[in-house]
Amino acid sequence: MNVLVVGSGIAGLTAALHAHEAGHEVTVVTKGGLGDGSTGYAQGGVAGVYGAGDSARQHAADTMVAGAGLSEAEAVDVLVADGAERIAELIARGVAFDRDADGTLLLGREAAHSHARIVHAGGDATGAAISRALVDSVRRTSIGVVEHAFVTDLIVEGGAVRGIRLLLDDATTELRADAVIIATGGAGHLFAHTTNPAGTTGDGIAAAIRAGAAVDDLEFVQFHPTILASGAAFLISEAVRGEGATLIDDRGRRFAFDSHPDGELAPRDVVSRAIARQAAAQGSPVRLDATMLGAGTLATRFPTIDRVTRERGFDWSREPIPVTPAAHYLMGGIVTDLHGRSTIPGLFAVGEAARTGVHGANRLASNSLLEGAVFGARAAAVLGEPWRGPTAERPSSRSAAPEHPSSRSAQRFSRASLQQLMWDHVGLLRTDEGLQLALDTVRGWRASASVPQTAADHEDANLLLIAEATASAALSRAGSVGAHFRLSESTAPAAAPILETV
Ligand code: SIN
Repeated sequence: MNVLVVGSGIAGLTAALHAHEAGHEVTVVTKGGLGDGSTGYAQGGVAGVYGAGDSARQHAADTMVAGAGLSEAEAVDVLVADGAERIAELIARGVAFDRDADGTLLLGREAAHSHARIVHAGGDATGAAISRALVDSVRRTSIGVVEHAFVTDLIVEGGAVRGIRLLLDDATTELRADAVIIATGGAGHLFAHTTNPAGTTGDGIAAAIRAGAAVDDLEFVQFHPTILASGAAFLISEAVRGEGATLIDDRGRRFAFDSHPDGELAPRDVVSRAIARQAAAQGSPVRLDATMLGAGTLATRFPTIDRVTRERGFDWSREPIPVTPAAHYLMGGIVTDLHGRSTIPGLFAVGEAARTGVHGANRLASNSLLEGAVFGARAAAVLGEPWRGPTAERPSSRSAAPEHPSSRSAQRFSRASLQQLMWDHVGLLRTDEGLQLALDTVRGWRASASVPQTAADHEDANLLLIAEATASAALSRAGSVGAHFRLSESTAPAAAPILETV
């Protein structure tokens, strides 16, 4: 069959390669160049290699705990069961994961993992190594590639997806297909501070929403705890804490244990909030102390971070570096079954754009590249089979939040004002009042928006659509769970830390 893959990260390229190898006619359509996007930036690795005392079952249990009870066991079981095969496949496609002198894979540990089970490549350059290998693999095939093309919408006919509309060389055009696989990543640029590369504007998720596909869990946005608090957002991998680095306040005290018994290795959402609270209390960024690891280890294990921190004037082997959280990963997205099938026949979603049920309310570190590879391959495996997607009724059971137009802000729309609004009110620490203000403001902006013409206009429209869905979902989820954390209205962010449990 004729298959369009939209996006060219690990999920999209894995799906494209598997679909091609299964005999389908495949074209990859991507907004930037082939392989641009989030995968290439991933410093963390791929979880799923089990040493002595560890097992897929343990990995599944850790994933469920991090997901705060909302991960779906069946999806998690698939993730850990298929993981070994996908990691072997990446190696076969040319990814040189780091090994010791005997050739044994080196296993790292990150927060909320009970064991060291994460493979890395080039120390902290795993995503770049994977992206290179997959792009090279695709280039060696007859898979079609359309680069610098902006997908504006899905073509839906007779209740099924039959292709895409796109902006290419400033002209609008269409590509027809029997199946479309969305692999466009998340929507980090909803927020003023994000680890995501430019262009991560939720285009595929927005197109799916407009086409009528079910989305869910958009309120679960993961904020990575440790971004260098100096210059453009630059991630300091959790693996640094996995190796023993600590978080300290302005008096040099390890404050993370105030929030969770696992301290710096607590689930990401807990650590991010602990950092935000501490920074608010002390009026300056907290610091990550990696000095105990020594200059040699830091340079060899984390070459990218070592280079960038030094370029920015820090010698992290001698001094703690300032860090702050930033939006990192969207756990929710287009609802899929265990083969990436959405609620609309002909439409698949894989990778960060999909809501497979694996991540629940908070993704476990280094499960995202794994999920992209596992579900990319699983989607390709059922192409051509009679359609059996999830039912539209299953998810999205929560109703849209009501509108309060009187509280709409008079502020004019700009992408920066949207990002600041989302950061302030739909970020790490949320209140009912703030969520309602964000929702009403976004609805006002959407109501007065003009018809998008350029790719930038389409990105803005997509961000606004997802912002509304995210704020609405957050507002309608009472209480706190995982990455969705509500302060009581009277609690200021600088209040005394509370002990959190997962
Ligand atoms: C990191 O290296 O801390 C990021 C890895 C991930 O997001 O899983």
